[in-house]
Amino acid sequence: MNLLFIGDVVGQSGCDFLESRMYQLKREYDIDVTVINGENSAQGNGITPQSYRQLINMGADVVTTGNHSFRRREAAELYDDNEALLRPANYPDGVMGHGVTCIDMCPYKIAVVNIMGTMYMEAVENPFNYVDKVLADIDTPNIIVDFHAEATSEKKAMGFYLQGRCTAVLGTHTHVQTSDETILGGHTAYITDVGMTGAELSVLGVESDIVINKFKYLTPVKFEESKKPCFLNGVVVQFDEKSGKATNIKRVIKR
Ligand code: FE2
Repeated sequence: MNLLFIGDVVGQSGCDFLESRMYQLKREYDIDVTVINGENSAQGNGITPQSYRQLINMGADVVTTGNHSFRRREAAELYDDNEALLRPANYPDGVMGHGVTCIDMCPYKIAVVNIMGTMYMEAVENPFNYVDKVLADIDTPNIIVDFHAEATSEKKAMGFYLQGRCTAVLGTHTHVQTSDETILGGHTAYITDVGMTGAELSVLGVESDIVINKFKYLTPVKFEESKKPCFLNGVVVQFDEKSGKATNIKRVIKR
């Protein structure tokens, strides 16, 4: 099977650009299952019912999120009602939503796990301990992990920690695609960061002048989505659905 995983989609322009390329992408790579990180898909940050539905309607099977899962009040209604929408599994117990979902592709199943790092991030449950609990309850060898984290060291460590136990460990959150894609232990597709989908000549999707002023004057600024031309970043992971072993990972950039 072929998995398409799209890195953090930023804003309305990112959503619209991805939508315009999705049909061709799926044909070109013969995609069976699609996962999109949508935690910044709403205009102005976070995810809203409108941006979630746009991602689903364009062909996402699962939408993952991260530290901006609950940024928008409108998102509250989404998390408990939609199996296909994930927030990091290691958020505190009792918070709305869920961090794992299973796609039934009879006779095979594909589990998608969303988990978040703690280095330079909010103090959620230790992801290394928590992921063990999550994996213990999954009854398919096909397991895709979106590890939403800041530190490259934490992401690398998670890749090795899950080597041989998951089909793919794919980093998100830092919005810059890394070129370290590999298959760990002959089993687990890994990349430190899948990258982002949105304005290419921007600072992580935000208008560059705004971010320059933030760093230069140290005053609060309102981030605005850049209107520059978009690109998309993703990876295609080929895996054997009987064993859960990844056989190939390929980075994808489209303009
Ligand atoms: Fe994030």
